[in-house]
Amino acid sequence: MKVISFYSFKGGTGRTTTTANVATDLARRNKNVVVIDLDIDGPGLDTVLAVKNEIPIYIQDYLKQPNEANYKMLLYDLKKEKHFRKFPGALYFIGANLDVQSPVDATTDIVDLIIRNLIRTLADKTDPKIDYCIIDSQSGYTDLSATVLDVSDHLFLLSKFSRQHIIGTVLYHRLLNHLKITKNLVLDFDVVISVVPEITKPREEKLRAEYLTFIKKNTKQEILVEIPDASSLKWREEVIIGKSTPNVRQVTQAFRAISERCLKL
Ligand SMILES: Nc1ncnc2c1ncn2[C@@H]1O[C@H](COP(=O)(O)OP(=O)(O)OP(=O)(O)O)[C@@H](O)[C@H]1O
Ligand SMILES: [Mg+2]
Repeated sequence: MKVISFYSFKGGTGRTTTTANVATDLARRNKNVVVIDLDIDGPGLDTVLAVKNEIPIYIQDYLKQPNEANYKMLLYDLKKEKHFRKFPGALYFIGANLDVQSPVDATTDIVDLIIRNLIRTLADKTDPKIDYCIIDSQSGYTDLSATVLDVSDHLFLLSKFSRQHIIGTVLYHRLLNHLKITKNLVLDFDVVISVVPEITKPREEKLRAEYLTFIKKNTKQEILVEIPDASSLKWREEVIIGKSTPNVRQVTQAFRAISERCLKL
C-alpha cells in the first residue's frame, strides 16, 4: 500500500477538492483506495465527496477509542453512495467529524501512535488489499501534519500563485529536505500549483514566470502540474472527474496527471 498525502502550507489551495478527485479517480482506475480526512480541525472531505448517508464512526471517535469494534466501523464504504456505486476499485472513506463537540483530548504522542498503527493495519488489510491510502492533511506546521509526513510515502505539496503560498511552500520544501538528512525522513514530493487564474494580461504572464522561476530555483524541482481555476469548482467543490460538467476538461486533466503520478509510485 502506498500512502500519499496532500499538503499545503497555507489553506484554501483546493487541497480537499484535489484529494477527493484524485482518490476517486484511482478507484475509477480499478485501484483499491482508502481516503482519510486528517484535517480534523477543519474537515471537509465528506462534503466534497457528497456523502449522503450517516457515517457511523469518525476518526475522532477512533482516536478516543482505538479498539477493534470501532475499527470495524471506521472504514465507510463509499460505494453506498449512488454516485460511486459503479466504480471498479474499492473505495473507503475515513471521515472527520465537523461537530465541535468532538475534539480529541488524547495527547499528541498518543494521536501519533494511533495514526501510525491505523496505517499499518490498513497496509496489512486483505480482502480487498488496499493499493492506496490517500490523506488530506492539515495545513501549516501542526503536530498532525508532522505525523502525516512520517507515515507518507509521497507528498503532493499544493500551492497557489501567490507570494504567501509560494514562500510557505519553499520553506516547507526546505524543511522536508532538512528532515530527510537529520531525521531519515523517507519521502518524495511533487509541487502542484492549484487554482491557477486565467492569464489575461502580459503583466500576469510575467508574474507567473517569476513565481515559477522562484519555485524552481529554491526547490530544484519542476512543477508537476498546474490545476486551473475552474469556474464550476469555484461555486461548488465536488468530484468532477467522469462528469460531463462543461468547461472542466483542463482541470480533470490536471487531476488525472496527479493520479497518473500516483500509479507510477
Ligand atoms: N481548481 C479550482 N478552481 C476553482 N476553485 C476551486 C478549485 N479547487 C477548489 N476550489 C474552491 O476553492 C475553495 C477551497 O477549496 P478546498 O476546500 O478544496 O481547499 P482547501 O485547501 O482544502 O481549503 P482548507 O485549507 O480550508 O481546508 C472552495 O470554495 C473550492 O470550491
Ligand atoms: Mg480542506
